[in-house]
Amino acid sequence: MAPYSSQLLWNLFLFNVLILSTISCAIGCYTSIFSFGDSLADTGNLMHLSQPDKLPQFSFPPYGETFFHQPTGRCSNGRLVIDFIAEYLGLSFVPPYFGGSMESFKERGVNFAVVGASALDAAFLRERGIKSKFTNISLDVQLGLFKELLPSLCSTPSDCKKLLGNSLILLGEIGGNDYNNAFFGGVSFEIIQDLVPYVINTIGLVIEEVIELGAITILVPGNLPIGCSPSYLTYFEGSDKKDYDQFTGCLNWLNKFSEDHNQQFLAELNRIQKLHPHAKIIYADYYNAVMPFYHLPNPFGFTGGSLKACCGWGGMYNYNSSVQCGNPLASVCNDPSLYVNWDGIHYTEATYKLIFESIIEGTYSFPSFKALCNLDGRYFNN
Ligand SMILES: *[C@@H]1O[C@H](CO)[C@@H](O)[C@H](O)[C@H]1NC(C)=O
Ligand SMILES: *[C@@H]1O[C@H](CO)[C@@H](O)[C@H](O)[C@H]1NC(C)=O
Repeated sequence: MAPYSSQLLWNLFLFNVLILSTISCAIGCYTSIFSFGDSLADTGNLMHLSQPDKLPQFSFPPYGETFFHQPTGRCSNGRLVIDFIAEYLGLSFVPPYFGGSMESFKERGVNFAVVGASALDAAFLRERGIKSKFTNISLDVQLGLFKELLPSLCSTPSDCKKLLGNSLILLGEIGGNDYNNAFFGGVSFEIIQDLVPYVINTIGLVIEEVIELGAITILVPGNLPIGCSPSYLTYFEGSDKKDYDQFTGCLNWLNKFSEDHNQQFLAELNRIQKLHPHAKIIYADYYNAVMPFYHLPNPFGFTGGSLKACCGWGGMYNYNSSVQCGNPLASVCNDPSLYVNWDGIHYTEATYKLIFESIIEGTYSFPSFKALCNLDGRYFNN
């Protein structure tokens, strides 16, 4: 063989190594996930914390029927966005803090998200007449648990910085319950609107604190279009026809509330990003990721309906707060993958998978998660 041929082969070999390491980068981007939030991300915390004789409704079938084939404490029929992210990164499912082992935390990270958790402190909300039905483990409490646990996961401050720098921080969704509990508790719209800056400020402070501890990549989801939620549509049913979007059937004024929150939230994230240029704060636009399912459900496979819950009881939206999914009286659809909504409040696994794809592989994260992830893979895994 002429010398230039072996040179060519060598170049080809190098080229392939380069291509392969770029493609497989998703696998090596982060070594673990630390998660904070509410029922959109809880993988078992509240179920573990509940008394055996007072288990919440999502501890019963048909919750978990699709993937896990048993209830796991997740508020869906199957996997959540956090589960799909873990799979995508080549990691195991993130163990819930409560009931999890130190061994698994060291290997896989920790999930502090608790069903019903609010961004704001329980006492702050109580003062305004807003009560949480499920938990008082608000975002601050979750951060406190994290800081308490951290010294057991890494030995020196520089070790801990490295651990967090190599981890993906999933911060949210959080804040939805501050509003849910207020709306469903009959609190006035003015008081609810006044909460928004407090909610955003609280999340912002937590972002800055985890950055301080060494976090670099922080994925921060915004709020959902609550005006399309069967629970809200049922609670505010009978509103003026003009209140509904004529194409989607969602309640405009509630969606506008979510959009306003998200807009202010994004401004705060931009502000924090400028203060911490080395960090990568990624906004996950859950709102716009799910809106296409309401505008045009069929192409996504949602032929069962976008506003009707798969699992619930009665009414226009198959939702009744006194007979919820998990109650033996509830009716359950045959195929949850045909429905956007699972139980009137949370989404089906099919929806969560599509949100995940929109966020991680699509264009609904700012800046693009995929681009940053590739960058991190090269940056940290050498
Ligand atoms: C949360 O509630 C439990 C009892 O339900 C109480 O023991 C605990 O002190 C509360 N924690 C906070 C932070 O309010
Ligand atoms: C919800 O269910 C309860 C119990 O079956 C019933 O009394 C109530 O009227 C239902 N509410 C609505 C809005 O349908």
